[in-house]
Amino acid sequence: MANLTIRKLDDAVRDELRLRAARNGRSVEDEVRVILGEVVAGQPFEVPPAAPAPRPQAAVASANGLARVTLIIGGGIAAYKALDLIRRLKERQIHVRCVLTKAAQQFVTPLAASALSHERVYTDLFDPESEFDAGHIRLARECDLIVVAPATADLIAKMAHGHADDLASATLLAANRPILLAPAMNPLMWNNAATRRNVLQLRRDGILTVGPNAGEMAEAGEAGVGRMAEPTEIAAAAEHILRPPHPRPLQGKRVLITAGPTHEAIDPVRYIANRSSGKQGFAIAAAARDAGAEVVLVSGPVDLADPSGVSVISVESARDMLHRVEAALPVDVAIFAAAVADWRVANEGEQKLKKTAAGVPALQLVENPDILATIAKLENNRPPLVIGFAAETEHLIENAKAKIARKGCDWIVANDVSPATGVMGGDRNTVHLLTREGEDISVDSWPVMTKEQVATELVARIAKAVETKS
Ligand code: CTP
Repeated sequence: MANLTIRKLDDAVRDELRLRAARNGRSVEDEVRVILGEVVAGQPFEVPPAAPAPRPQAAVASANGLARVTLIIGGGIAAYKALDLIRRLKERQIHVRCVLTKAAQQFVTPLAASALSHERVYTDLFDPESEFDAGHIRLARECDLIVVAPATADLIAKMAHGHADDLASATLLAANRPILLAPAMNPLMWNNAATRRNVLQLRRDGILTVGPNAGEMAEAGEAGVGRMAEPTEIAAAAEHILRPPHPRPLQGKRVLITAGPTHEAIDPVRYIANRSSGKQGFAIAAAARDAGAEVVLVSGPVDLADPSGVSVISVESARDMLHRVEAALPVDVAIFAAAVADWRVANEGEQKLKKTAAGVPALQLVENPDILATIAKLENNRPPLVIGFAAETEHLIENAKAKIARKGCDWIVANDVSPATGVMGGDRNTVHLLTREGEDISVDSWPVMTKEQVATELVARIAKAVETKS
């Protein structure tokens, strides 16, 4: 058996080999064995996906709100399927404008593409009607995505080498939008070393591909990898780029949040309150909902609209809040962002207190239940992740560390609420996240952020922790 020395390989091949091996979790030697095995077994060549160069994101913002695709139809027998692709894209509320290469017009007519897209079709780089103001630049830019289907071996080669001698290649070269290729060609052309190099280069340049698939060719008796992906597959790939699905890392998880102040009645018209606006807790509820969680928000009296898709339970006092929190269990994560009043009046007056000659009434206070500590110390039904907040005006970290231990929670979000910070009632927050692992407490200090940003960051950390635990 011959020995292969990796140092003697061409640089590009060596890099690709290392990448492929790393991606597959194999040593380079093992990767070579697998590749050789595949070749000997007669498996078709598959260009491995290379780490793409960053390309501009699709910027979906046309005047009528539709995503816009410039569809370049290349000259191959699969061009007839591009007509169906126009319909599939339009079904998905995607506006389509077509460019046909000269070769494509041997297979489909501009009239057919125009009738299906309900748009003018472009064919000529030197068309005086559209090129008087550099129409190829507009075709490349006035869209959110360029799809090339079928992407023939010739078009792929032109792209890989930066040619711009017709409308399609000039548009592709001028593009600052994502490009999706649906290659289609004879299997021998697809497996040709030149095509392999070109496709590899384009993937390195950040060009995306869908297909080709294996199957029968138009040429009688030929089969292999080279069939263009089906129009529905291409349309789905385009939609995925244009409207990437939101990650929903908390899908299937139930999250409980407390927010706002509590009001502790003195008599039927007076109460003890604090300056909490509820904004931070509400922002966390919205972020958890966006992450896919089922969210229960138990809120004291606030002046905020209920976030949609969240079940909001309104309460007044700390005792109400505790009851509603207990009733909402079990949950996967509980976040206690409410500024719960520590004390309430021992004997709440049934009637309005009156001024009397006896002088100023003395209000006797009693301690409210500590909701966070009660839930964090539950023997049954304790949420796997219990997060408290620490509102401090001095010795922030020190007090927060003491609080995490005293309350028995897993994390504490500590924030300085002294009046100078404007946190209470304001829109921004500077927080420190304290996380407890056994006896160890780590502190992560975040820069000043809006309360929405704090919420998004906190929910991202929660999602990671939940994933690790499960
Ligand atoms: N908390 C609670 N129930 C209470 C008091 C506080 O659930 N009766 C929760 C808050 O929602 C917060 C955490 O406990 O998550 C800490 O609240 P904070 O007001 O900072 O601390 P206190 O426990 O009130 O202690 P202190 O006022 O002494 O700082």
